[in-house]
Amino acid sequence: MTSSDAPTPSKPSADIYAPGFVKDLFDRCSGRYRLFSLVLSFGFTERWRRQCVAALPIENLAGASGYDLMAGTGEIWPHLLKPHPDIDKITAIDISTGMHRRALARLHRHRAHKISFIEDDVLASRLPDASAEFIVSTFGLKTFNESQHRALAKLTARVLKPGDVFAMIEASDPKGWFLRPLYLFHLKRVLPLIERVFLRGAQDFTMIGAYSTNFGDASGLASHLRAEGLTVSYRRHFFGCATSVAGIKGED
Ligand SMILES: C[S@@+](CC[C@H](N)C(=O)[O-])C[C@H]1O[C@@H](n2cnc3c(N)ncnc32)[C@H](O)[C@@H]1O
Repeated sequence: MTSSDAPTPSKPSADIYAPGFVKDLFDRCSGRYRLFSLVLSFGFTERWRRQCVAALPIENLAGASGYDLMAGTGEIWPHLLKPHPDIDKITAIDISTGMHRRALARLHRHRAHKISFIEDDVLASRLPDASAEFIVSTFGLKTFNESQHRALAKLTARVLKPGDVFAMIEASDPKGWFLRPLYLFHLKRVLPLIERVFLRGAQDFTMIGAYSTNFGDASGLASHLRAEGLTVSYRRHFFGCATSVAGIKGED
């Protein structure tokens, strides 16, 4: 074999689901994340966070404590505390130092007494059994693969108390919608272009397109949650551009 026939060793591609990879990605994005997410989703992310809270199958969370998983900079807290001002405590968990610092430094000072942080990979964290009366999570599902979704379902079932509730939402691939090609064009072409031109980014937001199309929708997570014995309702939002799972852990 001549040297030109020899196969070129290919560089191993990064595991985009490795916690270290995701942490670095969000550390780099943290400064621009809030604005980027609000403007380029045309405000839909705020609406979907509200709908996620509304999907919690409970009227009253007075005195309750629970988790915000993949909390970012606490984007859901205003939406959670507005209808449920008497929540006792929200424990936010996020792997990214950047997101976590920003949440601490700039935002939510007036609600700080209700919030505590755990900076950790949620799937590796040792959250105690039956330690939550509610779990919420917004836009943190797409950076998990199938086996990580299974682990997230196990964690949800383990840390909720019987009778207690959860709701999670994620941007999704609106399969079957006639405007899907336009939506995917926005996600995969327009967003990265805007990032390059206006945000001088390192194409980090380009990854969102890849994660979102790999994720598909939250129906897989719904199955894993049901397999853990939870009662789950699955819902599509705005033609499937986001999907959510919400439900309850039955009494033993
Ligand atoms: C797209 S942001 C969502 C932030 C926020 N919840 C919102 O509504 O915008 C996803 C967040 O998930 C966090 N994250 C990703 N993988 C994680 C993991 N394994 N453990 C904890 N946090 C994780 C990232 O650091 C990032 O802050």
